[in-house]
Amino acid sequence: MQHCAAEIQRVIATAKGAIPSGVASRSAVEPRAAAGYPAATSIFGEPPVQAQRPIRLVDYSPYPFTLKAVDLTFRLAAGATRVLARLDLVARVPGASLVLDGVGLRLIVAAINGDALTGADYLLTETGLTIHAAALPEGPFTLTTEVEINPAANTTMQGLYISNGMYCTQCEAEGFRHITFYPDRPDVMAPFRVRVETPDAANPLPVLLSNGNPLGQGPGWAEWDDPWPKPAYLFALVAGDLTAYPGSFTTMSGRNVALNIYVRPGDEGRCAFAMGALKRAMAWDERTYGREYDLDIFNIVAVDDFNMGAMENKGLNIFNSKWVLASPETATDNDFERIEGIIAHEYFHNWTGNRITCRDWFQLCLKEGLTVYRDQQFTADMRSAPVKRIDDVLTLRARQFREDQGPLAHPVRPDHYVEINNFYTATVYEKGAEVIGMLKSLVGEGGYRAALDLYFSRHDGEAATIEDWLKVFEDATGRDLTQFKRWYTDAGTPRVTVKDSYENGTLTLNVSQSTPPTPGQPEKAPRVIPLALGLLSPNGDEVLPTTLLELTEAHQTFTFPGLAARPILSLNRGFSAPVVLTHSASPAEQAFVMAHDTDPFTRWEAGRTLARNGLCAMVNGADAAPDHIDALGRILRDNSLDPAFRALCLRLPGEEEIAQTLYDAGQTPDPDAIHDARGRLATALARTHETDLAGTYTAMRVPGPYTPDAGPAGQRALRLACLGLLNRLDGGAHAKALFAQADNMTESLAALACLIEEGQADDATATFKTRWQADRLVMDKWFTVQLAHATPDQTPALAKTLAALPEFEWKNPNRYRALMGGLSANHAGFHQASGAGYRFYADWLLRVDPLNPQIAARLSTAFETWPRYDAARQTLIRAELGRMAAQPGLSRDLTEMVTRLATAKA
Ligand code: PHE
Ligand code: ZN
Repeated sequence: MQHCAAEIQRVIATAKGAIPSGVASRSAVEPRAAAGYPAATSIFGEPPVQAQRPIRLVDYSPYPFTLKAVDLTFRLAAGATRVLARLDLVARVPGASLVLDGVGLRLIVAAINGDALTGADYLLTETGLTIHAAALPEGPFTLTTEVEINPAANTTMQGLYISNGMYCTQCEAEGFRHITFYPDRPDVMAPFRVRVETPDAANPLPVLLSNGNPLGQGPGWAEWDDPWPKPAYLFALVAGDLTAYPGSFTTMSGRNVALNIYVRPGDEGRCAFAMGALKRAMAWDERTYGREYDLDIFNIVAVDDFNMGAMENKGLNIFNSKWVLASPETATDNDFERIEGIIAHEYFHNWTGNRITCRDWFQLCLKEGLTVYRDQQFTADMRSAPVKRIDDVLTLRARQFREDQGPLAHPVRPDHYVEINNFYTATVYEKGAEVIGMLKSLVGEGGYRAALDLYFSRHDGEAATIEDWLKVFEDATGRDLTQFKRWYTDAGTPRVTVKDSYENGTLTLNVSQSTPPTPGQPEKAPRVIPLALGLLSPNGDEVLPTTLLELTEAHQTFTFPGLAARPILSLNRGFSAPVVLTHSASPAEQAFVMAHDTDPFTRWEAGRTLARNGLCAMVNGADAAPDHIDALGRILRDNSLDPAFRALCLRLPGEEEIAQTLYDAGQTPDPDAIHDARGRLATALARTHETDLAGTYTAMRVPGPYTPDAGPAGQRALRLACLGLLNRLDGGAHAKALFAQADNMTESLAALACLIEEGQADDATATFKTRWQADRLVMDKWFTVQLAHATPDQTPALAKTLAALPEFEWKNPNRYRALMGGLSANHAGFHQASGAGYRFYADWLLRVDPLNPQIAARLSTAFETWPRYDAARQTLIRAELGRMAAQPGLSRDLTEMVTRLATAKA
């Protein structure tokens, strides 16, 4: 079960890059011996790998021209599309030359105010076009260019490319420069007019879309007008044979907005849920943030080949089809929830990202952290808030804490990068959202709303910074946020240690904080940490309701007088701060919090801590802890608790989480021992509670037709958590029966996973494949589930077998991620001692890199945990990193990643 969420990323960050040229190849260098980290910054030996030149935040300077309007005409042809651009400009700095980005463009003609430029007027390079100041008139002028591009040959999935015969664009972060010469930076904003023409009568493309409102259309053409100034990364164009699933929404001021979800003909039947989610998101943003939609039309397009999850282009969101299309037979409960969240996320960007955008890409968290925070609030409101919070913390720990602990650690607002697409990370997204949650805790609900209102009114139509963001909070609430800003500038997860003593009715807490060094940041100053706590009396009553402590120093003392007895601590309620907390509560105290606390997050957390510590002890040879097993039994039997919550409590920490915990505690995790310990705990739990598990399994069966609502989804989650444990005892009997009966993908896939774990899946795997052969999204699951649940020592060989199948269409990002993600989600399989998992994985990164560098760079993060493991595994992984680094022509994206991955510990 643990692996289901491992299907990779959230809104799926990726890495981009293209530009296969210009990457210096290096000679092969032997990685150093494992023992003892060298002082050098790289494990590749001396001298360190040739540094790529980074872009730095301190070098920011405003663009010296104002762009007043943009007019684009596209003459679409697969191998030779013409792009005509008209830019109305005026210099803001006298004597500046006009520097435009442009990569892979064939320049046909460029003219200023209608006069064609000659060779002496400009400089054309591999990265752009510079028009010398002498060739520019004083005052406003118009630049027209015509270029030719080749979408059919574009395998990078950035810029203009073709998926299943459909033209489609992806411009964030720097894709627009692959379309036309342009100041491709987010602080240059302009209104756009776009004309799309399809001159090839033999290939009619009935649907022609771009941003904004429709101006007109006819056979073979359409025109669009986007009145809201936007940066080029929000540009989009779609042309193809698509079917619209329509809807409409009336805004708070009574305007009618036409909604459409465009899909391939045949997929219309899987759009209803996404359309409902869109309407819920639009209404929620009006209700919660006072934000109304601002165009007459809102379009979503589903595309099969997409590097990320989805993209918030103005009025024309483009989605990976996996995060739009859903039916009970093909999508799991988790898929439905994620679709709702991602639809909302992209919609919310209309205000947090589009109307107010980022000054430069260092400010990425300004739009992403805030928009993730907003989509989390939305899901919490639509479903169960405590369950959502626990899910988010699980994701944060699994992805962001892991990132912060390794060589790729970076601040929420980085201050340098080589390839910006390598910074669409869990730190920018998930930790970026946590930082906003902390701000809200510190200034309160009212302060937060006042600050947001001020943000929207002050910065509408602008490209803003984190400084601007913090300033609205300071101005709206009067609070000084100087120290708080460290959450944006300092990498690393703070460690908070709480020691308590009790004497004469007074509880004293000694609280200390420190943050371990991260690459480039050896020393860290204390941060403002909002730590929510409550106190319970020994009879279970709450004697201190939730109270916020503000930690600001390395060591602080807090006292709580007037207590009748020594209280039990309930710490970091609601996970008020993204820290690693150490408190020497006994297992009995943890079980007490789990049973009695008023805060559902802390109840779950206490159980998780028990489980984690118990598992770590089991890895080191201990038996399963009876305290923990008993406590889980009480949760299982407590029918007053939400089934979704009980399901979360029953789910054991994954092997990856155990490895992380051991490493945090200064131990070297052994993947096989971890796998074994987790299995033993699951079996012990199942044995002790077999009757209750079987009873709950039956009781939680949801009668009637499937609905993806939170209630029935929670029942299924509990039922399937029971199944996963019963599976340890019955050799797959329950799972076999469920697999045969299931009428929905949630149960079908969970049953298949159980059968795979028991080695009973040969028939089921084949049946599943026969049934879903023609369904690309379900077949992705078929690849992932087999690898994620395979016996560890068979996993690398299975990956090879699956990769050799004709169904492994590896050029499709979803299919590629399905296989690679399945392998890396199988902790003990990926880390198999022979190194076969590492080798296979690196082989396939190298295979995909020349075509789609973003995907290769993104998935290379599977190696980020190498410093945790034993010397033999470290040597094996570093050999793969070295092999990749030495590959001639490696993309800039993957080069930056392997270089950073190879950073030795400080
Ligand atoms: N901005 C997108 C989101 O967060 C993610 C994305 C980044 C998509 C880059 C494509 C390219 O919703
Ligand atoms: Zn986003």
